[in-house]
Amino acid sequence: MVGVQALDDLFTTQDSHVPAVPATTEPLATGLGALVDEIADSGHGLVMLMGKGGVGKTTVAAAVAVDLADRGYDVHLTSTDPAAHLTETLAGALDNLQVSRIDPAVETQRYRDHVLATKGAQLDQQGRAMLEEDLQSPCTEEIAVFQAFSKVIREARHKFVVVDTAPTGHTLLLLDATGSYDREVRRKIGATMTVTTPLMRLQDPTLTKVLLVTLAETTPVLEAASLQGDLERAGITPWAWVINNSLAAANPHNPLLRQRAASELPEIDKVHHTLATRTAVIPALAEEPVGLPALRHLTSSNRLSASPSR
Ligand SMILES: Nc1ncnc2c1ncn2[C@@H]1O[C@H](COP(=O)(O)OP(=O)(O)OP(=O)(O)O)[C@@H](O)[C@H]1O
Ligand SMILES: [Mg+2]
Repeated sequence: MVGVQALDDLFTTQDSHVPAVPATTEPLATGLGALVDEIADSGHGLVMLMGKGGVGKTTVAAAVAVDLADRGYDVHLTSTDPAAHLTETLAGALDNLQVSRIDPAVETQRYRDHVLATKGAQLDQQGRAMLEEDLQSPCTEEIAVFQAFSKVIREARHKFVVVDTAPTGHTLLLLDATGSYDREVRRKIGATMTVTTPLMRLQDPTLTKVLLVTLAETTPVLEAASLQGDLERAGITPWAWVINNSLAAANPHNPLLRQRAASELPEIDKVHHTLATRTAVIPALAEEPVGLPALRHLTSSNRLSASPSR
């Protein structure tokens, strides 16, 4: 609210300044279903949902996984987010949909037990005590989570694995671990042998599709663009952007909401034309999309083909 006119309008209910939201705009035409059509074409692969906190990563991950499972594919939906609530979002089960969680505490304990049982078995008491102390270091958790993550990456060679990642910071740490491991392997084996590291699988567009989730607002779009930059520096190109919770796509009647909706259009346009290779838009819904029917609705409505942009 800046300027005399705007402040004066605060006391009136007239809505003559409210811009009309275009009934349909071309960039709004693509729905999440169109992206899943394309994902399903490859028959298997890793789909990773990334983005800032609260933008809808868990919701979109669950919707994509349910749609793929409904098509008859074997799907593993997993989360690297310590605060994940996949089961609450799904609120249901499907035979060919496996749901799991990479819990840092559980993975760390598993890793510690494994190292003590293997490497630790050959040590004397003092050696074992030193190893146990070593395993208390924060690096242990990073290694343990990375190992669990590597395992699901490998699984994606023969089924669909949909990963709901933790908000940006955590995910970058995980990718960093993947990068360090990649360098370490290359250093050890030299240039002569060929191996496929987890990072190489993440960089392989025929196996991995990263979906960046954002809201159609200035700051979230800037943050998602900066995440895209970080990923590209790691050799990973996001496959698509998902603009969630869009008022413009909801086509509201209320004047205030229409005004908000109109302010989304330049952001959607920017994503579609300058940032993304593919863009899907999900409308803001009156009710939280929780449970199988609501998740199915996210992919079934608006199944127009995804138009390539950038
Ligand atoms: N299109 C939508 N319309 C209305 N509500 C939505 C929509 N998408 C998601 N929500 C709701 O918004 C909230 C946040 O969504 P979600 O949990 O999927 O985000 P997230 O990115 O996984 O969050 P976090 O970073 O905290 O894990 C949830 O309560 C979800 O049900
Ligand atoms: Mg989440």
